[in-house]
Amino acid sequence: MYEKLGAAAKHIGTFKDTPPRVGIILGSGLGAFVDSVENQIHIPYQEIPHFRDCTVEGHQGRLILGTVNDVDVAILQGRLHAYEGLPMEEVVFPTRVLATLGVEKLILTNAAGGINQDYIPGDIVCISDHINMMAANPLIGPNINELGPRFPDMTQAYNPELQDAFKAAAKDMGYNLKTGIYAGVLGPTYETPAEVRMLGIIGADMVGMSTVPESIAANHLGIQVCGLSCITNMAAGISKSKLDHSEVKEQALKVMKTFSDLLTTAIGKFK
Ligand code: HPA
Repeated sequence: MYEKLGAAAKHIGTFKDTPPRVGIILGSGLGAFVDSVENQIHIPYQEIPHFRDCTVEGHQGRLILGTVNDVDVAILQGRLHAYEGLPMEEVVFPTRVLATLGVEKLILTNAAGGINQDYIPGDIVCISDHINMMAANPLIGPNINELGPRFPDMTQAYNPELQDAFKAAAKDMGYNLKTGIYAGVLGPTYETPAEVRMLGIIGADMVGMSTVPESIAANHLGIQVCGLSCITNMAAGISKSKLDHSEVKEQALKVMKTFSDLLTTAIGKFK
């Protein structure tokens, strides 16, 4: 695994001299953020050694090097999910490659179902913490000591300073950025209303099928993590309507401008 990370990072490193400082993983329907990235270099996942291609609609499957607000970034336009049948180690492989490239800060983005009744579809929420409901963890198995410790601390899994940068960016924009706790479930079924009620009772504000594995792997690596959820729908039972992936993609597209401005402004505030 460690050698594979090196091979992937070496290939990506041949495209650009300056290493990326910030990594961004784009969630379902949020791929259009790359339109606001400057000096783009596109590297399809198929060309990168040991990278798996995406199988989910709305996930493009390429790594983009570029600059956002003069900061060197590496963007994963398309992510891997455990429900695709991949072992967790594969799901977090691209995250670990970003770290190998030199990324110090990681922004995780996703589409999520709103559980908190104060949310409405179209809201962008800054993730303050997560609850792992995937019954899996990417660090299971022998610890790779070169990457991080056996028992990583998760007390500040979502870095407070990075959250503050997003809040300050929202304030500049006059945008009401909400904050919330993300429950990560395995999928691929959407939740039942009973499951959503349970998630609300245990403290979740929103639910989705990603982010938690990458957050765990990045915290293991000692990278600062932050995240944004785009509330694409109210979770099952909160609203009476049935859930559908095309609705998720449509709603994500509608908030694209605000989402892109928020990311760009916040990255400019990263220290
Ligand atoms: N549940 C799980 N994942 C999701 C949802 C949802 O309601 N919406 C977007 N991703």
